[in-house]
Amino acid sequence: MEVLKIENLKKHFGGVQAVDNCSFSVEPGKITALIGPNGSGKTTVFNLISGIIRPDSGKIFLYNPFLFKDKNITHLPPDIISNFGVSRVFQQSHLFANLTVEENLLLAFNNNDQNFWSSVFGLESWGQKSASAETSTRQSQKKIVAEYLALFRLAHMAEKPARDLSFGQSRLVEILRSLINPHHLLILDEPIAGVTPELRDMIKKLLLELKEKGETILLIEHDMNFTLNVSDRVIVMDAGQVIAEGTPDEIRHNPKVLEAYLD
Ligand SMILES: Nc1ncnc2c1ncn2[C@@H]1O[C@H](COP(=O)(O)OP(=O)(O)O)[C@@H](O)[C@H]1O
Ligand SMILES: [Mg+2]
Repeated sequence: MEVLKIENLKKHFGGVQAVDNCSFSVEPGKITALIGPNGSGKTTVFNLISGIIRPDSGKIFLYNPFLFKDKNITHLPPDIISNFGVSRVFQQSHLFANLTVEENLLLAFNNNDQNFWSSVFGLESWGQKSASAETSTRQSQKKIVAEYLALFRLAHMAEKPARDLSFGQSRLVEILRSLINPHHLLILDEPIAGVTPELRDMIKKLLLELKEKGETILLIEHDMNFTLNVSDRVIVMDAGQVIAEGTPDEIRHNPKVLEAYLD
């Protein structure tokens, strides 16, 4: 059963057909990569999935074993989609510059109103992955944040305002924030763009570890080399359309893909 299914999605901006009849799906427990040259429509697909913009036509279905099967989320607002288990890392930084790193991460716990969803669905298990009952107090939330920060060698930054982070460190903190946010699907838009080789390696390791733990990840990335090394399945977009789909090996040797990247 797919975690996410996209059917014939279309979106235009003025005369630009940013997404043109795009269909693909994301399988559970795998890293699916959406790659393509700049301007091929990847971020627009990301925004459509997150509910930030609405498609002209087409449908988006989400599957969350705690909640529902094949829920049509096409016209739902971003906060609901987030509460349904889609956690995202944006291409542009979205940290609060004046809040400390710790405060930024603590905000992730508030994103999801557990009581509300528990009462609506009668589920105690909702969000159990990263925000189970014992983590509901501020103290234990702080402990989780501290552990994550230590893991990424960012413990010394906890009390610093987010504006003091380097670009790469902010990317890491944003990824941590989306991990803390209870979720079922993680979508990352260009997590390694502009970060140092060391941080790239760290993010790569992290993605593979998350997969080991059973996370489902949709990785949107421009860098083909990085993507082919971490993903299980690759979807290639060009001019708003899916032009190829397959394993990294199949994609590596696909002439259509090479041509799109050489353009
Ligand atoms: N809000 C917008 N307004 C107008 N044009 C947009 C907007 N967002 C994206 N586009 C255009 O849509 C196309 C796809 O953009 P985008 O999805 O950002 O591509 P990618 O993420 O693959 O680089 C580009 O031609 C871009 O200029
Ligand atoms: Mg983009």
